Amino acid sequence: MNLKDLQNTFHKELDHLYGKEEVDSFFFMLVESYYKVSRLQLAMEPQFSVENYKAILDALELLKKHQPIQYILGYTEFYGLPFKVNEHTLIPRPETEELVAWILNHQPITTNHQLRILDIGTGSGCIAITLAKHLPNAKVYGLDISYNALKIAKENAGLNKVRVELIEADILNPETWNSEFKDLNFDIIVSNPPYVREQEKQHMKLNVLDNEPHLALFVKDEDPLLFYKAITRLAIDKLSKNGRLFFEINEYLGKDMIQLLVKSQFSNIELKQDMFKKDRMIKGVWNNDFRK
Ligand SMILES: C[S@@+](CC[C@H](N)C(=O)[O-])C[C@H]1O[C@@H](n2cnc3c(N)ncnc32)[C@H](O)[C@@H]1O
Repeated sequence: MNLKDLQNTFHKELDHLYGKEEVDSFFFMLVESYYKVSRLQLAMEPQFSVENYKAILDALELLKKHQPIQYILGYTEFYGLPFKVNEHTLIPRPETEELVAWILNHQPITTNHQLRILDIGTGSGCIAITLAKHLPNAKVYGLDISYNALKIAKENAGLNKVRVELIEADILNPETWNSEFKDLNFDIIVSNPPYVREQEKQHMKLNVLDNEPHLALFVKDEDPLLFYKAITRLAIDKLSKNGRLFFEINEYLGKDMIQLLVKSQFSNIELKQDMFKKDRMIKGVWNNDFRK
């Protein structure tokens, strides 16, 4: 079968679900990944023919069922770096790239020790690994409750040739923290924890709802800041003086997040919008001498 005919089949079966442009974009990604044929090559040789097209037809079936293209391909890109993803890891989002850029654009912290960074809810490891890549002298830790996500984070650290210490623990339950973690202190703590309230489910796209891990996404309506409160408490205990706390946040909870950090006595608090002008990130600095 030639690739042009395959592309027509994709359009026939998928255009009503995704629109023509997105279907083209899926098709080119799949062809590049499965047959190593670039978009340009395909434009120049539309009759390019392939023998084994079972995989791409399987991908078509999965796209019909709203499976995200990143899970079908098994990888995605974050901050220009490759990341494996599967059903146990959230697909890294552009908003999170903005959070990483914000951290990297801050004045470097001067310490008399190696800079220590903790990423809580590391998932695919996208935040921790990107920071490790851009701050080669830092010691970076990634923590998650999901063993299966941590397996992917480990592979991603290898893929990107960085070292990240991975910790399996429940951030909400100190009894799961091992003694090594209990003794650690950090200069930067960052987290993109679960923040979608159950009540927001109805506005979510099917491809997210049916495929991405609910453990990574949802928090109960009654206590939407559950993770933020626990991480802020941990940060008070574990941040060095002038240490920084960065969060990705629910766009509707910016004010509540400011209140939480003010009440917890963080200073230099800054709420930041993402490229869509939504409140999406917040940071605070811990410069108190006392611990709670
Ligand atoms: C929104 S995802 C973020 C993943 C990744 N850091 C990113 O930005 O794409 C939240 C992550 O928190 C993890 N998580 C959920 N509950 C947790 C808990 N109680 N303790 C530690 N991690 C948890 C999930 O497994 C998931 O990987």
